[in-house]
Amino acid sequence: MNKVLVIGSGGREHALALKLAESKQVSQVFVAPGNAGMELAINPSAHKIQCIDISAVDKEALVEFARKEDIQLTVVGPETSLAIGLVDAFRQHDLAIVGPSQSAARLESSKTFAKDILTKAKVPTAEYRAFKANEFDQAIAFVRQQNSGLVVKEDGLAAGKGVYIHHHLDDIENNLSYIMKDLNHDLVIEELLEGEELSYFSLLNGDHIIPLALAQDYKRAFDDDKGPNTGGMGSISPVPGYDEEALMEECNQIIVRPLIQALKAEGISYTGILYTGLMMTKDGPKVIEFNARFGDPETQVVLERIVDDFYHLLQVHLNQEIYQVTLKPEYCLGVVVAALGYPGTYPKGMPIQIPENLLAQVRFAGVKSSPDYPLISQGGRILMLIQSGDQLDNLSQEIYQKLNQIQINQTYYRKDIAQKHIKKGD
Ligand code: AMP
Ligand code: GLY
Repeated sequence: MNKVLVIGSGGREHALALKLAESKQVSQVFVAPGNAGMELAINPSAHKIQCIDISAVDKEALVEFARKEDIQLTVVGPETSLAIGLVDAFRQHDLAIVGPSQSAARLESSKTFAKDILTKAKVPTAEYRAFKANEFDQAIAFVRQQNSGLVVKEDGLAAGKGVYIHHHLDDIENNLSYIMKDLNHDLVIEELLEGEELSYFSLLNGDHIIPLALAQDYKRAFDDDKGPNTGGMGSISPVPGYDEEALMEECNQIIVRPLIQALKAEGISYTGILYTGLMMTKDGPKVIEFNARFGDPETQVVLERIVDDFYHLLQVHLNQEIYQVTLKPEYCLGVVVAALGYPGTYPKGMPIQIPENLLAQVRFAGVKSSPDYPLISQGGRILMLIQSGDQLDNLSQEIYQKLNQIQINQTYYRKDIAQKHIKKGD
């Protein structure tokens, strides 16, 4: 029997911990630092989960814990842990870990590095120009030559923030001035792509690709894709209207394989989850971004569809074995309950009441325990409710009926997750 460690504290990490706890090969799942919702026992495998009080960015303490506890496998959730070189530190101590090295994780942490590799690999992506913070005049001259929409992206990790969409170019100059002069940040300016957005998740290890699934994230705060960008307010997998297997294969051919070769030419071998953010344009799929980790809240629905023993799957990935994942064909839908005001400022400390029969469908994120209540809210995204089924309209009705039974004051959730597909008849 094996002990495993999950790094992080959100809904994504709750889903990873539950999926690993289901494995017959796993005796215990530690989560560093985890959250109080993860330890609410809801089924026999959830008893295996234990949170430990170590920060997700405390490299030395995490390595020491993994050695002392004889951890057989570690899975990294957040990009911040990757960006500080947690994976490198584990590998230096011969500890098995799923995730890319600090250098490979630049695919996510540096937009200019990602764009450079995409160009070298000749992968379809938005046309772009990178500018250093001191190249304000050049950036202005460049945008004045453009006549269609542009996207401005700050370089460096911005957790979904730092991306500014300009359908019209009226106030782009103020935006550039703010980023380059006030923040002193480098940036990328790129062509605005139009189409449906979706993401492709695969496990890469050197030349070995294990395709996982396609998913869609609802990034905007309010219904009909209105309001500010968030970490994600809901998700669905598979994505209605697409042949999942065929599209994953196409992405491997035109994106992932060329990417692996281009990384190799730089002396980089990528291990871990590759999250490819795609825009389905009229000219075919184009890459919007890469993330070097599982998506949140896509992981919560993608893992629900994986039939295989997840511990075994991750071992096969680390051993570079050829493997075909079995997915449940039905849809899994997830809706995030967020504190009012998120992604801006929001209240904390609201008691959370969930009927016991729904607990197995809840993935907890921004929660903690308190002397008065087992669980109170602590973050912007508090929890996600997930539900599987083969009829989208029934699924949607069921999940919203169940959300009605969850009581947390001063919260909101989107009412239209999957609605666009139901209306289109996908
Ligand atoms: P990113 O941080 O690169 O994922 O960007 C955040 C979001 O901005 C993406 O999920 C897209 O919705 C949008 N976005 C980014 N780049 C583009 C682009 N070139 N064209 C259209 N939308 C984009
Ligand atoms: N849901 C988007 C992300 O994890 O970056």
